[in-house]
Amino acid sequence: MDLEKRFCAIRDFLKQHEYLHELEVMERYPFPLKAPYDQWTKELQKLDAKDLLQLECFGSTQALTEESMISYFEKAWVLAELPKYAQSDNKLKGEITRKMTPKKIHEIEQIQHLLQDEEVETLVDIGSGAGYLSSALLINNNLKSFCVDMNDQFQQQGKKKLQNWFPELLDRLTFVHAKVDANSKFDFIQNTQKTLLLGLHACGPLSTTLVRHFEKGQYGTLLNFGCCYHKMQNEYNLSAVAKSEPINFSNHALTMAAKCHSVFSPKEIHQRYLVKRFRYSLHFYAQDVLKTPFETLGNASAKDYQGSFSDYAKKYYPAVHDIPAQELEEYFHLPSTQQKVHYAMVAGIIRSALGRLIEIYINLDRALYLQEHGHQVVVAETFKRELSPRNIAILAKNTQ
Ligand SMILES: C[S@@+](CC[C@H](N)C(=O)[O-])C[C@H]1O[C@@H](n2cnc3c(N)ncnc32)[C@H](O)[C@@H]1O
Repeated sequence: MDLEKRFCAIRDFLKQHEYLHELEVMERYPFPLKAPYDQWTKELQKLDAKDLLQLECFGSTQALTEESMISYFEKAWVLAELPKYAQSDNKLKGEITRKMTPKKIHEIEQIQHLLQDEEVETLVDIGSGAGYLSSALLINNNLKSFCVDMNDQFQQQGKKKLQNWFPELLDRLTFVHAKVDANSKFDFIQNTQKTLLLGLHACGPLSTTLVRHFEKGQYGTLLNFGCCYHKMQNEYNLSAVAKSEPINFSNHALTMAAKCHSVFSPKEIHQRYLVKRFRYSLHFYAQDVLKTPFETLGNASAKDYQGSFSDYAKKYYPAVHDIPAQELEEYFHLPSTQQKVHYAMVAGIIRSALGRLIEIYINLDRALYLQEHGHQVVVAETFKRELSPRNIAILAKNTQ
């Protein structure tokens, strides 16, 4: 993949559809959305749940007729197509998998596979949490790892597990309690050419810090997976290519990038509908009837969304506390309210096609920055998206 060419094509597409990604659909209320998105939304409102799921999760445009919308989805999916690393068949087994989720096990299996031919002696695992990845990578070899994290509790958990099950690994795995920033010095590293700087889901700006450390230092290899893009302020647009015509994403856009690319089951889609029909109806009620801006709600439990709308509204939205339950129920059941909920939900599917592109923009920018500084860089999907959608690896080699 030509990183620069792909980056520029994604940037142009995201600029063209800035109206869609800069604000969530609900922030555009009262509707309609501007052209052509209103027309597209109205067409999507005619589709059934199965076709909407196919479109949202797999980019299938078979049920669409509107040409401009078909080309929008097709282009978004083509631009989001990345090279993929071959999946490993090796299974991580035994006590090392204790306390690990299937997601974590899968990620570790793939990273083990990816690193098998690398000439590495030391890992510097930044944002290592409990050190599960490093622990697994140290089994049956002589590797060393420094697991650096600012969360002492996670590190204690990891240490306890190793003391109980793999005490011998503690001779080669060191937990370093530190908050990493641009000025951090990793004085404990000796052989830097055979050192791998590793960040598995180094959240928000931490991935950028890793990329900058790799560029400044003499490490042999970098393997980084980003996540939590909404935690970034301006720690992107690093490369000269991005700087020449940057996009400054809103927090709404970065949040979408941090949550995109999941595969939903029909049951999950239905649960999401139950949540949104209450939340959105309350939003419309606040704006249309109370004439007040909607205030964000705390997280409700899944059970709350199965009860009545008025119970939910009174529990989570103090402004409706004195409104009779019957009035709230009547508003909720109005066909116009439910139509607006439906409109916002399907418009959200159009918007969501941009989430992955924002994530790829941020990762390609990091990769381009490294390439501009003379490193060899590969950007590829590494994990199954069903298990771990934040699956974009940046693998860089220091060739200097
Ligand atoms: C999403 S978790 C990933 C943990 C682990 N790498 C994994 O994949 O299981 C991110 C970790 O980064 C740590 N972290 C975030 N910012 C950090 C910083 N500036 N310095 C050190 N650790 C940081 C957090 O405490 C957390 O443990």
